[in-house]
Amino acid sequence: MAGMNRASYAIAIVGEMRGRFITFEGGEGAGKSSHAAMLAQRLRTLGIGVVLTREPGGSPGAEIIRHVLLSGAAKPLGPDAEAILFAAARDDHVRQTIEPALARGRWVISDRFADSTRVYQGTLGHADPKLIKALERITVGDLKPDLTVILDVPAEIGLSRASKRRGAAGADRFEAESAEFHEKLRDAFRMLALAEPNRCVLIDAGDMRPTVAERIWKVVSDRLDPATAPVALEDVAS
Ligand code: TYD
Repeated sequence: MAGMNRASYAIAIVGEMRGRFITFEGGEGAGKSSHAAMLAQRLRTLGIGVVLTREPGGSPGAEIIRHVLLSGAAKPLGPDAEAILFAAARDDHVRQTIEPALARGRWVISDRFADSTRVYQGTLGHADPKLIKALERITVGDLKPDLTVILDVPAEIGLSRASKRRGAAGADRFEAESAEFHEKLRDAFRMLALAEPNRCVLIDAGDMRPTVAERIWKVVSDRLDPATAPVALEDVAS
């Protein structure tokens, strides 16, 4: 790399590597947000640049759509229309946030992604399966997550955690669904883990937070070997 200054060397290295893409999935109150943040922190201690993001949302355009969806304003339009709105948000999120970060060598951790549409709008909402597939092809294409962590807790525990978390605020569009809906949701995520074992790992998330975090770290270490990940020089403090 003779003749290159530090900045151009950094860009050359970054140009050769793509970051890893990890998604967290599961029902309400499974602990996705906390565990996604804890994992991001742990990867950062290894010098890996991490972008922590979420769905619906994760880019300015998608955050606007998030508001429409979670307020319940789109519910009367039906599950197909809701799936289309989640997909519109995802499309913006992928193009504005996820792809650029991966291309710069960052690891991206997303709190929910396309599996949530498959399960909430598809399995539970009975949206047209062909529509769900087509939307996934358009928004996700080849951008399959390298790893999907599915956090599994009994619906009853998840719902009581979610209700504690929101305090006096009312339940959002999906939290307000019946207990039966949330049990089915759990089953659907468990089926997904069975159907795609190369990408998905089901983690028992009913234990104390540090225990669950260790389980997640072991899976990430075994599958993605972050200790040997190339570190983008632009992430190294100069
Ligand atoms: P959020 O407040 O982010 O809560 P959670 O902690 O449960 O992730 O709410 C997101 C809600 O949107 C959640 O109830 C799941 C739902 N959802 C879908 O129905 N389809 C989707 O494609 C996505 C990304 C989320």
